[in-house]
Amino acid sequence: MTTNTNPLAPPSALLAELTYRCPLSCPYCSNPLQMGGRDTEMSTEEWKAIFDQAAALGVLHVHMSGGEPAARRDLLELVAHCAGLELYTNLITSGVGLTRASMAALAAAGLDHVQLSIQDSTAEGADWIGGYEGGFAKKLEVAGWVAEEGLPLTINAVIHRANVAHAADMVDFAVRLGARRIEIAHTQYYGWALHNRAHLMPTREQSEKAYAEVEERRARYRGQIVIDHVAPDYHAKYPKACMSGWGRLSMNVTPQGKILPCHAAETIPGLEFWNAREIPLADIWANSPGFNAYRGDDWMQEPCRSCERKTEDFGGCRCQAMALLGDASACDPICVKSPRHGLIAEIAARDSAEKVEGFTPRRIERIREKSDA
Ligand code: SF4
Ligand code: FES
Repeated sequence: MTTNTNPLAPPSALLAELTYRCPLSCPYCSNPLQMGGRDTEMSTEEWKAIFDQAAALGVLHVHMSGGEPAARRDLLELVAHCAGLELYTNLITSGVGLTRASMAALAAAGLDHVQLSIQDSTAEGADWIGGYEGGFAKKLEVAGWVAEEGLPLTINAVIHRANVAHAADMVDFAVRLGARRIEIAHTQYYGWALHNRAHLMPTREQSEKAYAEVEERRARYRGQIVIDHVAPDYHAKYPKACMSGWGRLSMNVTPQGKILPCHAAETIPGLEFWNAREIPLADIWANSPGFNAYRGDDWMQEPCRSCERKTEDFGGCRCQAMALLGDASACDPICVKSPRHGLIAEIAARDSAEKVEGFTPRRIERIREKSDA
Protein backbone atom coordinates (compact mmCIF):
# COMPACT_ATOMS: atom_id res chain seq x y z
CA MET A 1 0.00 0.00 0.00
CA THR A 2 1.27 3.50 -0.76
CA THR A 3 2.08 5.88 2.06
CA ASN A 4 0.69 9.38 1.77
CA THR A 5 2.50 12.21 3.47
CA ASN A 6 0.12 14.97 2.44
CA PRO A 7 -3.07 14.80 4.49
CA LEU A 8 -5.08 15.90 1.48
CA ALA A 9 -3.56 13.34 -0.84
CA PRO A 10 -6.23 10.93 -2.13
CA PRO A 11 -7.16 7.96 0.05
CA SER A 12 -5.54 4.70 -1.01
CA ALA A 13 -8.07 2.38 0.62
CA LEU A 14 -11.79 2.20 1.15
CA LEU A 15 -13.45 -0.13 3.64
CA ALA A 16 -16.93 -0.92 2.38
CA GLU A 17 -19.11 -2.18 5.21
CA LEU A 18 -21.69 -3.66 2.87
CA THR A 19 -24.06 -4.72 5.64
CA TYR A 20 -24.18 -5.02 9.39
CA ARG A 21 -26.05 -8.33 9.09
CA CYS A 22 -23.97 -11.30 10.20
CA PRO A 23 -24.73 -14.89 11.22
CA LEU A 24 -22.02 -14.71 13.90
CA SER A 25 -22.24 -12.63 17.05
CA CYS A 26 -18.64 -12.09 18.17
CA PRO A 27 -18.53 -10.09 21.40
CA TYR A 28 -15.59 -7.95 20.16
CA CYS A 29 -17.14 -6.81 16.89
CA SER A 30 -16.01 -3.35 15.81
CA ASN A 31 -19.46 -2.50 14.45
CA PRO A 32 -21.41 0.14 16.37
CA LEU A 33 -23.81 -0.85 19.16
CA GLN A 34 -26.69 0.70 17.24
CA MET A 35 -26.86 -0.94 13.81
CA GLY A 36 -29.33 -0.53 10.99
CA GLY A 37 -30.78 -3.64 9.32
CA ARG A 38 -31.32 -4.49 5.67
CA ASP A 39 -34.07 -1.93 5.10
CA THR A 40 -31.57 0.88 5.79
CA GLU A 41 -28.76 -0.41 3.53
CA MET A 42 -27.64 1.16 0.27
CA SER A 43 -28.76 -0.40 -2.98
CA THR A 44 -26.45 -2.10 -5.48
CA GLU A 45 -26.49 1.00 -7.67
CA GLU A 46 -25.61 3.27 -4.76
CA TRP A 47 -22.61 1.09 -3.88
CA LYS A 48 -21.48 1.02 -7.50
CA ALA A 49 -21.65 4.81 -7.65
CA ILE A 50 -19.40 5.01 -4.58
CA PHE A 51 -16.88 2.59 -6.10
CA ASP A 52 -16.86 4.62 -9.34
CA GLN A 53 -16.10 7.76 -7.38
CA ALA A 54 -13.50 6.01 -5.24
CA ALA A 55 -11.61 4.82 -8.33
CA ALA A 56 -11.75 8.30 -9.83
CA LEU A 57 -10.49 9.76 -6.55
CA GLY A 58 -7.42 7.49 -6.54
CA VAL A 59 -8.46 4.65 -4.24
CA LEU A 60 -6.49 1.49 -5.03
CA HIS A 61 -7.83 -1.08 -2.55
CA VAL A 62 -11.43 -1.88 -1.67
CA HIS A 63 -11.98 -4.03 1.40
CA MET A 64 -15.47 -5.52 1.38
CA SER A 65 -16.52 -6.12 4.92
CA GLY A 66 -19.52 -6.00 7.22
CA GLY A 67 -21.07 -7.62 9.22
CA GLU A 68 -20.79 -10.48 6.81
CA PRO A 69 -20.49 -9.23 3.22
CA ALA A 70 -21.72 -12.58 1.87
CA ALA A 71 -25.10 -11.69 3.41
CA ARG A 72 -25.51 -9.27 0.48
CA ARG A 73 -27.07 -11.00 -2.51
CA ASP A 74 -25.28 -8.58 -4.84
CA LEU A 75 -21.76 -9.34 -3.53
CA LEU A 76 -20.71 -10.94 -6.81
CA GLU A 77 -22.00 -7.98 -8.82
CA LEU A 78 -20.16 -5.53 -6.58
CA VAL A 79 -16.89 -7.46 -6.80
CA ALA A 80 -17.18 -7.64 -10.58
CA HIS A 81 -17.86 -3.91 -10.70
CA CYS A 82 -14.77 -3.11 -8.63
CA ALA A 83 -12.64 -5.46 -10.72
CA GLY A 84 -13.87 -3.65 -13.82
CA LEU A 85 -12.61 -0.43 -12.28
CA GLU A 86 -9.24 -2.13 -11.66
CA LEU A 87 -9.62 -1.78 -7.92
CA TYR A 88 -7.87 -4.43 -5.80
CA THR A 89 -10.71 -6.24 -4.06
CA ASN A 90 -10.32 -7.93 -0.70
CA LEU A 91 -13.18 -9.91 0.84
CA ILE A 92 -13.19 -9.85 4.65
CA THR A 93 -15.48 -12.69 5.66
CA SER A 94 -16.46 -15.16 8.37
CA GLY A 95 -16.91 -17.68 5.55
CA VAL A 96 -20.48 -18.38 6.61
CA GLY A 97 -22.78 -17.72 3.67
CA LEU A 98 -20.23 -18.65 1.00
CA THR A 99 -20.61 -21.79 -1.10
CA ARG A 100 -18.19 -23.64 -3.38
CA ALA A 101 -20.00 -22.15 -6.37
CA SER A 102 -20.06 -18.60 -5.03
CA MET A 103 -16.33 -18.74 -4.26
CA ALA A 104 -15.61 -19.88 -7.81
CA ALA A 105 -17.83 -17.12 -9.19
CA LEU A 106 -16.15 -14.47 -7.03
CA ALA A 107 -12.72 -15.59 -8.20
CA ALA A 108 -13.87 -15.56 -11.82
CA ALA A 109 -15.33 -12.07 -11.31
CA GLY A 110 -11.91 -10.75 -10.31
CA LEU A 111 -11.73 -11.03 -6.53
CA ASP A 112 -8.08 -10.54 -5.56
CA HIS A 113 -7.80 -11.68 -1.95
CA VAL A 114 -9.72 -13.29 0.92
CA GLN A 115 -9.39 -12.51 4.61
CA LEU A 116 -11.04 -15.21 6.70
CA SER A 117 -11.75 -14.65 10.37
CA ILE A 118 -11.22 -17.39 12.94
CA GLN A 119 -12.43 -17.14 16.52
CA ASP A 120 -10.20 -19.85 18.04
CA SER A 121 -8.00 -22.79 17.08
CA THR A 122 -10.57 -25.34 18.26
CA ALA A 123 -14.09 -25.94 16.98
CA GLU A 124 -15.55 -25.83 20.46
CA GLY A 125 -13.97 -22.52 21.36
CA ALA A 126 -14.54 -20.91 17.98
CA ASP A 127 -18.22 -21.82 17.77
CA TRP A 128 -18.82 -20.65 21.32
CA ILE A 129 -17.10 -17.29 20.83
CA GLY A 130 -18.77 -16.66 17.47
CA GLY A 131 -22.13 -17.93 18.71
CA TYR A 132 -22.52 -20.07 15.60
CA GLU A 133 -22.46 -23.85 15.72
CA GLY A 134 -20.61 -25.37 12.81
CA GLY A 135 -18.87 -22.10 11.99
CA PHE A 136 -15.38 -23.52 12.52
CA ALA A 137 -16.01 -26.46 10.18
CA LYS A 138 -17.34 -24.05 7.58
CA LYS A 139 -14.17 -21.96 7.75
CA LEU A 140 -12.02 -25.02 7.09
CA GLU A 141 -14.10 -25.70 4.01
CA VAL A 142 -13.90 -22.10 2.80
CA ALA A 143 -10.12 -21.97 3.28
CA GLY A 144 -9.86 -25.04 1.04
CA TRP A 145 -11.97 -23.38 -1.65
CA VAL A 146 -9.84 -20.23 -1.52
CA ALA A 147 -6.75 -22.36 -2.10
CA GLU A 148 -8.41 -24.28 -4.94
CA GLU A 149 -9.24 -20.99 -6.63
CA GLY A 150 -5.61 -19.90 -6.29
CA LEU A 151 -6.52 -16.82 -4.26
CA PRO A 152 -4.21 -15.53 -1.53
CA LEU A 153 -5.60 -16.13 1.96
CA THR A 154 -5.11 -14.11 5.13
CA ILE A 155 -6.42 -15.39 8.46
CA ASN A 156 -7.67 -12.81 10.96
CA ALA A 157 -7.72 -13.74 14.62
CA VAL A 158 -8.77 -11.45 17.45
CA ILE A 159 -7.18 -12.32 20.79
CA HIS A 160 -8.99 -11.92 24.11
CA ARG A 161 -9.24 -13.71 27.43
CA ALA A 162 -11.30 -16.62 26.09
CA ASN A 163 -8.69 -17.60 23.47
CA VAL A 164 -5.46 -15.93 24.61
CA ALA A 165 -3.96 -19.30 25.52
CA HIS A 166 -4.37 -20.39 21.88
CA ALA A 167 -2.83 -17.39 20.10
CA ALA A 168 0.22 -19.33 18.88
CA ASP A 169 -1.96 -22.36 18.02
CA MET A 170 -3.89 -20.08 15.69
CA VAL A 171 -0.69 -19.29 13.82
CA ASP A 172 -0.02 -23.05 13.47
CA PHE A 173 -3.58 -23.48 12.28
CA ALA A 174 -3.22 -20.74 9.66
CA VAL A 175 -0.06 -22.39 8.35
CA ARG A 176 -1.95 -25.69 8.02
CA LEU A 177 -4.69 -23.87 6.10
CA GLY A 178 -2.12 -22.62 3.62
CA ALA A 179 -2.60 -18.95 4.51
CA ARG A 180 0.07 -16.55 3.30
CA ARG A 181 -0.54 -14.12 6.12
CA ILE A 182 -2.14 -14.05 9.56
CA GLU A 183 -3.22 -11.01 11.48
CA ILE A 184 -3.07 -11.76 15.20
CA ALA A 185 -4.71 -8.74 16.74
CA HIS A 186 -5.13 -8.36 20.46
CA THR A 187 -8.59 -6.91 20.97
CA GLN A 188 -8.99 -3.21 20.30
CA TYR A 189 -11.65 -1.86 22.63
CA TYR A 190 -14.25 -0.13 20.45
CA GLY A 191 -17.83 -0.97 19.62
CA TRP A 192 -18.92 -4.28 21.12
CA ALA A 193 -15.43 -4.95 22.47
CA LEU A 194 -15.57 -1.81 24.60
CA HIS A 195 -19.02 -2.82 25.78
CA ASN A 196 -17.70 -6.29 26.71
CA ARG A 197 -14.27 -5.18 27.87
CA ALA A 198 -14.64 -6.63 31.36
CA HIS A 199 -15.20 -10.08 29.85
CA LEU A 200 -12.51 -9.87 27.19
CA MET A 201 -9.50 -8.28 28.87
CA PRO A 202 -6.66 -10.76 29.50
CA THR A 203 -4.26 -10.25 32.36
CA ARG A 204 -0.91 -8.67 31.59
CA GLU A 205 0.76 -12.05 32.15
CA GLN A 206 -1.59 -13.78 29.70
CA SER A 207 -1.04 -11.09 27.07
CA GLU A 208 2.73 -11.10 27.43
CA LYS A 209 2.92 -14.90 27.24
CA ALA A 210 0.72 -14.97 24.12
CA TYR A 211 2.71 -12.17 22.52
CA ALA A 212 6.02 -13.94 23.11
CA GLU A 213 4.67 -17.26 21.80
CA VAL A 214 3.43 -15.65 18.59
CA GLU A 215 6.77 -13.89 18.12
CA GLU A 216 8.50 -17.27 18.50
CA ARG A 217 6.30 -18.56 15.65
CA ARG A 218 7.48 -15.66 13.50
CA ALA A 219 10.99 -17.09 13.56
CA ARG A 220 9.77 -20.68 13.15
CA TYR A 221 7.65 -19.90 10.08
CA ARG A 222 9.87 -17.33 8.37
CA GLY A 223 9.33 -17.60 4.62
CA GLN A 224 6.12 -19.62 5.12
CA ILE A 225 3.67 -17.11 6.54
CA VAL A 226 3.73 -13.40 7.29
CA ILE A 227 2.56 -12.55 10.81
CA ASP A 228 0.99 -9.15 11.42
CA HIS A 229 0.96 -8.83 15.18
CA VAL A 230 -1.19 -6.10 16.73
CA ALA A 231 0.01 -5.63 20.31
CA PRO A 232 -2.35 -5.53 23.29
CA ASP A 233 -3.14 -1.83 23.60
CA TYR A 234 -3.77 -1.70 27.33
CA HIS A 235 -0.43 -3.29 28.09
CA ALA A 236 1.60 -1.19 25.66
CA LYS A 237 3.93 1.75 26.26
CA TYR A 238 2.97 3.79 23.21
CA PRO A 239 -0.32 3.91 21.31
CA LYS A 240 -0.87 2.54 17.84
CA ALA A 241 -1.02 4.90 14.88
CA CYS A 242 -4.73 4.42 14.62
CA MET A 243 -5.90 4.30 10.97
CA SER A 244 -2.35 5.46 10.11
CA GLY A 245 -3.64 8.90 11.07
CA TRP A 246 -7.15 10.29 10.98
CA GLY A 247 -8.28 10.97 7.39
CA ARG A 248 -4.82 10.34 5.93
CA LEU A 249 -5.04 7.11 3.96
CA SER A 250 -8.47 5.55 4.08
CA MET A 251 -12.18 5.96 4.50
CA ASN A 252 -14.90 3.68 5.87
CA VAL A 253 -18.31 3.54 4.26
CA THR A 254 -21.20 2.40 6.45
CA PRO A 255 -24.01 0.28 5.01
CA GLN A 256 -26.09 3.46 5.04
CA GLY A 257 -23.55 5.50 3.03
CA LYS A 258 -21.99 7.56 5.76
CA ILE A 259 -18.28 8.19 5.15
CA LEU A 260 -16.12 7.91 8.27
CA PRO A 261 -12.40 8.10 9.06
CA CYS A 262 -12.64 4.97 11.25
CA HIS A 263 -15.11 2.43 12.65
CA ALA A 264 -15.79 4.26 15.86
CA ALA A 265 -15.74 7.87 14.65
CA GLU A 266 -19.41 8.39 15.39
CA THR A 267 -18.77 7.80 19.10
CA ILE A 268 -17.13 11.24 19.18
CA PRO A 269 -19.92 13.71 19.85
CA GLY A 270 -20.20 16.94 17.90
CA LEU A 271 -18.47 15.74 14.72
CA GLU A 272 -20.31 16.13 11.44
CA PHE A 273 -19.96 13.27 8.96
CA TRP A 274 -21.40 13.46 5.46
CA ASN A 275 -23.24 10.83 3.47
CA ALA A 276 -22.26 9.66 -0.02
CA ARG A 277 -25.94 9.34 -0.88
CA GLU A 278 -26.04 13.14 -0.85
CA ILE A 279 -22.53 14.48 -1.38
CA PRO A 280 -19.77 13.45 -3.83
CA LEU A 281 -17.02 11.32 -2.28
CA ALA A 282 -14.22 13.69 -3.32
CA ASP A 283 -16.01 16.57 -1.61
CA ILE A 284 -16.47 14.51 1.54
CA TRP A 285 -12.81 13.49 1.60
CA ALA A 286 -11.57 17.04 1.21
CA ASN A 287 -14.16 19.09 3.03
CA SER A 288 -16.31 17.18 5.50
CA PRO A 289 -15.87 18.68 8.97
CA GLY A 290 -15.57 15.23 10.55
CA PHE A 291 -12.57 14.31 8.38
CA ASN A 292 -10.87 17.65 8.87
CA ALA A 293 -11.31 17.64 12.65
CA TYR A 294 -8.11 15.70 13.40
CA ARG A 295 -5.97 16.14 10.31
CA GLY A 296 -2.53 17.68 10.75
CA ASP A 297 -1.54 18.55 14.31
CA ASP A 298 -3.20 21.88 15.11
CA TRP A 299 -5.77 20.04 17.21
CA MET A 300 -3.16 18.34 19.40
CA GLN A 301 -2.67 19.07 23.06
CA GLU A 302 0.49 18.53 25.09
CA PRO A 303 2.34 16.22 25.43
CA CYS A 304 1.61 15.24 21.80
CA ARG A 305 2.01 18.71 20.32
CA SER A 306 5.72 18.90 21.12
CA CYS A 307 6.43 15.16 20.98
CA GLU A 308 8.92 13.76 18.47
CA ARG A 309 6.69 10.71 17.91
CA LYS A 310 3.66 12.67 16.73
CA THR A 311 4.38 12.01 13.06
CA GLU A 312 4.62 8.28 13.81
CA ASP A 313 1.54 7.64 15.94
CA PHE A 314 -0.47 10.85 15.42
CA GLY A 315 -1.18 10.99 19.15
CA GLY A 316 -2.82 7.55 19.11
CA CYS A 317 -6.51 6.93 18.74
CA ARG A 318 -9.08 9.75 18.89
CA CYS A 319 -11.92 7.38 19.70
CA GLN A 320 -10.00 5.82 22.55
CA ALA A 321 -9.15 9.24 24.00
CA MET A 322 -12.88 10.01 23.80
CA ALA A 323 -14.00 6.73 25.32
CA LEU A 324 -11.53 6.77 28.20
CA LEU A 325 -11.07 10.48 28.92
CA GLY A 326 -14.11 12.14 27.39
CA ASP A 327 -11.84 14.30 25.23
CA ALA A 328 -11.09 13.19 21.67
CA SER A 329 -8.23 15.64 21.22
CA ALA A 330 -6.35 14.47 24.30
CA CYS A 331 -3.23 12.31 24.12
CA ASP A 332 -4.35 8.68 23.89
CA PRO A 333 -3.99 7.49 27.51
CA ILE A 334 -2.34 4.28 26.29
CA CYS A 335 0.76 6.47 25.90
CA VAL A 336 3.17 6.39 28.80
CA LYS A 337 3.60 10.18 28.39
CA SER A 338 -0.10 10.84 28.96
CA PRO A 339 -0.84 12.36 32.35
CA ARG A 340 -3.77 9.91 32.52
CA HIS A 341 -1.75 6.79 31.65
CA GLY A 342 -2.27 5.36 35.14
CA LEU A 343 -5.94 4.89 34.32
CA ILE A 344 -5.06 2.20 31.78
CA ALA A 345 -3.32 -0.05 34.27
CA GLU A 346 -6.26 0.40 36.65
CA ILE A 347 -8.80 -0.57 33.99
CA ALA A 348 -6.72 -3.52 32.78
CA ALA A 349 -6.26 -4.87 36.29
CA ARG A 350 -9.91 -4.41 37.19
CA ASP A 351 -11.38 -5.82 33.98
CA SER A 352 -9.05 -8.78 33.70
CA ALA A 353 -10.28 -9.92 37.10
CA GLU A 354 -13.87 -10.35 35.81
CA LYS A 355 -15.29 -13.66 34.59
CA VAL A 356 -15.12 -14.43 30.86
CA GLU A 357 -18.71 -15.63 30.68
CA GLY A 358 -21.54 -13.14 30.57
CA PHE A 359 -20.57 -10.96 27.60
CA THR A 360 -23.22 -9.46 25.39
CA PRO A 361 -23.20 -11.09 21.95
CA ARG A 362 -23.24 -8.60 19.10
CA ARG A 363 -26.70 -8.24 17.61
CA ILE A 364 -28.75 -6.00 15.39
CA GLU A 365 -31.81 -4.65 17.17
CA ARG A 366 -34.53 -7.29 17.22
CA ILE A 367 -36.96 -5.08 15.33
CA ARG A 368 -34.51 -4.90 12.38
CA GLU A 369 -33.84 -8.65 12.40
CA LYS A 370 -37.53 -9.28 11.92
CA SER A 371 -37.66 -7.11 8.84
CA ASP A 372 -34.52 -8.85 7.51
CA ALA A 373 -35.89 -12.34 7.86
FE1 SF4 B 1 2.38 9.70 20.61
FE2 SF4 B 1 1.34 11.79 21.92
FE3 SF4 B 1 2.49 9.81 23.26
FE4 SF4 B 1 4.00 11.42 21.80
S1 SF4 B 1 2.82 11.99 23.61
S2 SF4 B 1 4.18 9.20 21.91
S3 SF4 B 1 2.61 11.85 20.06
S4 SF4 B 1 0.63 9.69 21.99
FE1 FES C 1 -11.35 6.07 15.65
FE2 FES C 1 -8.95 5.08 16.40
S1 FES C 1 -10.87 4.03 16.16
S2 FES C 1 -9.40 7.05 15.60
